[in-house]
Amino acid sequence: MANEPSMESASAVGRALDVLFADGKSIRFEDCWLRDHCRCSSCYHSDTFQRAHHILDIPDATILSFEFDKKKIDVVWSDNHTSTYTAEFLSKFDYKTWKESRRLKPILWHGSIHDKISVVPVEKFLHSVEGAKHVFQSLLDYGVALVEGVGVSLEATEIVCKALGGVQHTIFGGMWQFTTRADHADTAYTNLPLAAHNDNTYFTEAAGLQILHCLEHKNGTGGETILVDGFHGALELKKENPEDFKFLSSFNLEAEYIEDGHHHTYSAPVIRIDNESQELVQIRFNVYDRAPMAFKNSEECRSYYRSLRNLSKYYQDPNNQWRFKLKPGTVMIMDNFRVLHGRTGFSGSRVLCGSYVARSDWLDKARALGLIQ
Ligand SMILES: [Fe+2]
Ligand SMILES: [Zn+2]
Repeated sequence: MANEPSMESASAVGRALDVLFADGKSIRFEDCWLRDHCRCSSCYHSDTFQRAHHILDIPDATILSFEFDKKKIDVVWSDNHTSTYTAEFLSKFDYKTWKESRRLKPILWHGSIHDKISVVPVEKFLHSVEGAKHVFQSLLDYGVALVEGVGVSLEATEIVCKALGGVQHTIFGGMWQFTTRADHADTAYTNLPLAAHNDNTYFTEAAGLQILHCLEHKNGTGGETILVDGFHGALELKKENPEDFKFLSSFNLEAEYIEDGHHHTYSAPVIRIDNESQELVQIRFNVYDRAPMAFKNSEECRSYYRSLRNLSKYYQDPNNQWRFKLKPGTVMIMDNFRVLHGRTGFSGSRVLCGSYVARSDWLDKARALGLIQ
């Protein structure tokens, strides 16, 4: 293998080892980390990739001596345990590289992304690594992908949902299908226009992906799908109205869903950011599912309305939205942690089916394909 990691030097610094790699990187390994990462068969089950010892059972031993060559370091511990660390293993823990490798890198968008996203024939998606990679890369980049040539049925759609990570079950079922008939006490089950929103803001774990397949639209018009990049909107808000961004990324907004026998509620910021990196994690934007709330004071109450309205203006602006008509045979997949969806009002009879896929499950697929760490 080209550029296999190799080490130039290793030196003890206090209770740590400083390792200099051939590529110029220098990494400091504390002895507690090294002992915890011993890969011998009594410390680590390499078949299940699990540690063998409870953290309380790992001795607070010190390094008695170590021997080093370009490919590995052998350590003898104060309790006589011995460990071997390969250059290949150690080189993965350069903090900057490690941190960067864990970052998702969404490509922000506004307006139509028809010519940017992946549109993959279903056979390619289901039966080739390349096809699967195209779909998942598009979801990672834009939060949207299309799979075409799918059989116009719930069963054919389910096969696609399973390949995306598996159907996520909620109170709405697993695979669902609906027409204008009111099956649930939810606005989605009518023919009214639906402003762009995220689903499940009232669940502790919102759906990861939403999959939609329009099986039929007869005797009518309208019913265009509206998609908008929630991340782009949040960052525009940060630029234009930084105090609103600050409010929506720290204030816990309560959302709820109530129907006979059910009462879901969850409270979290509308714009969830990673505390350390300040990067966007999730958008929980749904004006319909907001729960009635009490406020600490006038300022908090007024900030709530001002900031939500300013963010809504972005999401409602047609220039920021991608509008298109879903056709039977084309399955739309979107990242519900990022992309908002809605639809224009419609006439006639419309039959849709689809499901959710848990975020952990679709990221698992993307990771197994080598697209993310
Ligand atoms: Fe929805
Ligand atoms: Zn060991």
